[in-house]
Amino acid sequence: MPEILISENIIGEEMDKLRARFDCVFEPLLWKEPDRLRAMIPNFRALIARNQTQITRDIIEAGTQLEVIARAGVGMDNVDLEAASRAGIVVSWTPEQNTNSVAELTIGLLICLARMIPDADAHTKAGGWDRWKYMGVELLGKTLGIVGLGRIGSLTAAKARALGMEIVAYDPYVSGDSLRAMEVRARMTSLEEVLAISDFVSLHVPENDETRDMFGAEQFALMKPTAYFLNAARGGVVREDALLRVLQQKQIAGAALEVRKQEPAPLSEFNQLTNVILVPHIGAQTHEAQRRVVTTVCRDVEAILQGGEAKYFANFSKPKGRL
Ligand code: MLT
Repeated sequence: MPEILISENIIGEEMDKLRARFDCVFEPLLWKEPDRLRAMIPNFRALIARNQTQITRDIIEAGTQLEVIARAGVGMDNVDLEAASRAGIVVSWTPEQNTNSVAELTIGLLICLARMIPDADAHTKAGGWDRWKYMGVELLGKTLGIVGLGRIGSLTAAKARALGMEIVAYDPYVSGDSLRAMEVRARMTSLEEVLAISDFVSLHVPENDETRDMFGAEQFALMKPTAYFLNAARGGVVREDALLRVLQQKQIAGAALEVRKQEPAPLSEFNQLTNVILVPHIGAQTHEAQRRVVTTVCRDVEAILQGGEAKYFANFSKPKGRL
């Protein structure tokens, strides 16, 4: 009987070793076929996925032999954690293994927005040399508003500090005198104040019932017309129609979107805007992050299948039946 189903393109040395030790079925495009996934899952003890496989309640309930669902990443919005916990299945994950890569990408997007680098690149490659079209702004002395001061938000803040930016942050779970806020010298304040005073607003919250559609017309209306908006968190946190409107009407200066409500994102009016930078959810796409992520999930899946415990888990370390 096969033991491990891999429903996305999760590769690397550690994965090769896992595939040599266990009977694995590697179907990197299976995430596109939820009905087939549901039909296959009863045969497996482990499922390994990234963020594209929707691991819904019916898939979990069909996985009667499942002991572990390994999420090769940090966002849990595609896993019904409650259903997995009810079924006694371990949900392992990689909460810190791609933090640095996402924070570095955010800083990259920040600089690209401030200096219009992607548009200047397209302009030059098309034969242009209009230097006055590309008058940007410096980051030094500007205010970065961080929404969500978790692992990625606080590391982004630390890197932005090194560039001479001031940090204000909103996070209902982090207080101003917490170590995390003090370490990055972030002034914790209300969401309204973060939006009103920041030159750049960067989202770093997970998508869940509390944060879904958290950013809409009302929130964008508070931002300065010179401010930029960055989302390297989850597309579902933002009302894209509202964002498109404020960008088209130049109520804010620009935006960088690494994540989208629907992924892969369909062509839309965002694609026409030169003050918008779009990238295809590449925050964790570095050799280093993927090596750490794949090593971690492979180690935890192997441990569980051999009767041991996961090191990184979102619910419990062993399947419930064996607790
Ligand atoms: C994550 O949640 O870890 C990132 O969005 C990347 C991914 O899932 O592949």
